[in-house]
Amino acid sequence: MTTTLVDHTFRKDVRRCFENQTYAIPARWLYDRRGSELFEEITALPEYYPTRTETALLRANGPAFAASTGANRAVIEFGSGSSTKTPHLLKAIDPAAYVPIDISGEFLEHSASLLQEQFPDLPIYPVEADFMKRVALPESVADMPKLGFFPGSTIGNMIARTSVNLLSFMRETLGEGAQLLIGFDRIKDQQLLIDAYDDSAGVTAQFSLNLLHRINRELDGDIPCETFRHRAVWNDLHARIEIYLEAQDDVKFSIDGTVHEMGKGQKIHIENSHKYGLRDARLMLRAGGWTPSHDWSDEQDYFTLILAEARPYKHAP
Ligand code: AVJ
Repeated sequence: MTTTLVDHTFRKDVRRCFENQTYAIPARWLYDRRGSELFEEITALPEYYPTRTETALLRANGPAFAASTGANRAVIEFGSGSSTKTPHLLKAIDPAAYVPIDISGEFLEHSASLLQEQFPDLPIYPVEADFMKRVALPESVADMPKLGFFPGSTIGNMIARTSVNLLSFMRETLGEGAQLLIGFDRIKDQQLLIDAYDDSAGVTAQFSLNLLHRINRELDGDIPCETFRHRAVWNDLHARIEIYLEAQDDVKFSIDGTVHEMGKGQKIHIENSHKYGLRDARLMLRAGGWTPSHDWSDEQDYFTLILAEARPYKHAP
């Protein structure tokens, strides 16, 4: 996606937040350069179990993945970012090609070339695209069997309806007969969850607050960022962590030349991170057109990788 398109959508989403007073901004805007750096820091925090747990699962279960996927698939990664988990999968399954899809073009080229050094014989075809829509895959992989890869429990950022739409798009993108390996973060002890999203070093707080700094930087804002506090709340009804930026005082600021006011205690909702029971995750996959066939969890059931297949649709029964 081009920089101007990003600018335009970011501006539109921020405007909706303050002008239409939804006080909500989509979580995708957390990931500018600084945000992506801070997220990398989050993944190494002692309280943040997901990255560590999923990486261990990927390392430990290589032979089982290989047995289920077979060799010579084209691995299509959705939102590849720095592709840090990818080598574990690629080593395990002996793929025919790798297609990283990411919205950020510079990031994409950089991580693709790093990966190419590690896998000199693997054809890599980066695609700069918004994976929330159907993506046109490179012609070169058209005839290869596909394996979608969607690690990180990124799906947790989406509400159920959006997740199902995304899964359906993925099925269209990958086609019938494709497989999908996808990470889901599990429902667990509330305090563990809250700590993972409100770490003692305050990195997650910085990550959240960077969104306000980004608005100031890119949309000509003068938000007094120090006035806002990061809050992580467990919403049991929705089975998700909700992240807010809460005004600690009455504030007045301008964005793009328009003045906005917020009262003390008022919150901006900037992220959801949904957690799943194993059956919730399987149901979501089926709703999006994917049939779960295998799953791998750690001993504590903190995190699960599910392998699903795009089988031909059959009507009842
Ligand atoms: C990248 C969406 C998986 O929800 O755990 C981490 C993002 N936000 N800490 C998550 C995140 C705050 C993360 N995902």
